[in-house]
Amino acid sequence: MLAGKRILLILGGGIAAYKALDLIRQLGREGAAVTPVLTRAAEEFVTPLSVSALAGAKVYRDLFDLTDEAEMGHIQLSRSADLIVVAPATADLMAKMAQGHANDLASTLLLATDTPVLIAPAMNVRMWQHPATQRNLATLRGDGVRVVGPDEGEMACGEFGPGRMAEPPAIVAAILAALASGPLAGRHVLVTSGPTHEPIDPVRYIANRSSGAQGTAIAGALAALGARVTFVTGPASVPPPAGVAVVRVETARQMLEAVETALPADAAVFAAAVADWRVTTEAASKIKKDGSGRLPVLDFAENPDILATVARRDTSRPGLVVGFAAETDDVVAHATAKRLRKGCDWIVANDVSPATGIMGGTENAVTLITAEGAETWPRMAKEAVAARLADRIAAALGG
Ligand code: CTP
Repeated sequence: MLAGKRILLILGGGIAAYKALDLIRQLGREGAAVTPVLTRAAEEFVTPLSVSALAGAKVYRDLFDLTDEAEMGHIQLSRSADLIVVAPATADLMAKMAQGHANDLASTLLLATDTPVLIAPAMNVRMWQHPATQRNLATLRGDGVRVVGPDEGEMACGEFGPGRMAEPPAIVAAILAALASGPLAGRHVLVTSGPTHEPIDPVRYIANRSSGAQGTAIAGALAALGARVTFVTGPASVPPPAGVAVVRVETARQMLEAVETALPADAAVFAAAVADWRVTTEAASKIKKDGSGRLPVLDFAENPDILATVARRDTSRPGLVVGFAAETDDVVAHATAKRLRKGCDWIVANDVSPATGIMGGTENAVTLITAEGAETWPRMAKEAVAARLADRIAAALGG
């Protein structure tokens, strides 16, 4: 299933490197051409000879190797693959990647490339759970790096917990997914999701009940069809999907800025529940009860309408702009008017009255409103709505 695919496999220095030998064999069986790169530390765990023998290919080890550079420069090496896989991705290698270091062959290759990257982390459980590693992981995900594993279980060091490298079949499956060439391959789609938080003072904010589940599912469904997805999310209660570039924001104004930075895009889906108003009387320090019984008074200003701003752009307007309309009554009528008011091409209307359980729930019942008319879909899981919408977007973009 990987016939003709070229994989640059970087082995980091961890005990799990022995499992990478099996990964190389499995990739070979699938028809992939594997070019191995060993870090210095990896050579302490597996020998270049066994890696080379299993891959049936030359092993690259040194940034300053004159013969290697003459045959294939490291820049070319980093760009000649369909996918770069880092397995095992040690804590140190992840930190280097997150920081953009380029002080050995592996880190230089990873910095010098725009080829998609998949990492299979492997480390001691404490190292995995350390805030520094989790911070690096979030940075890497935000950079669009795909992650497989780690698994939970007994570790070579005798401890138990998450940190074991994913098993080779799981890594092969993740590689297949990363190389999927769907109808949206080569397309860039922007998705906004989640609520926004509008600060009152350093410890308080105004928010809404959006979980971000629908936007997350849409971003995942678009990525599954091969799109490069920029996922601009407010503080959601569900984690972002794999394989998308995550941009985290808090306020509506930050969301607008992130969206404008992410343009151009072939399509944009605005699933975020953006706060309509922000507090203009935001206090620099925590508002205290002053003992007089006087209550604080908040002043508001209207937030920018992100969807309308993008839909009405003269330059870099995405070819297809999709809005959402959260309504509690006269859903189709209000949403139809909203589509025209905001200037978007499609609007996905849903009834968010508390009785429907849609806001924060797992299902959604939507009506897709386009210039051609309104089409009501049956109530279904948010993932199913997302898959159907992603298919429609792919069809509209000619995929
Ligand atoms: N939206 C946006 N920026 C805002 C407000 C809304 O981008 N400041 C987007 C939402 O992401 C959604 C669409 O506009 O795609 C409609 O959001 P909704 O809350 O239904 O509409 P509002 O504009 O807030 O209108 P109203 O609250 O008056 O119904």
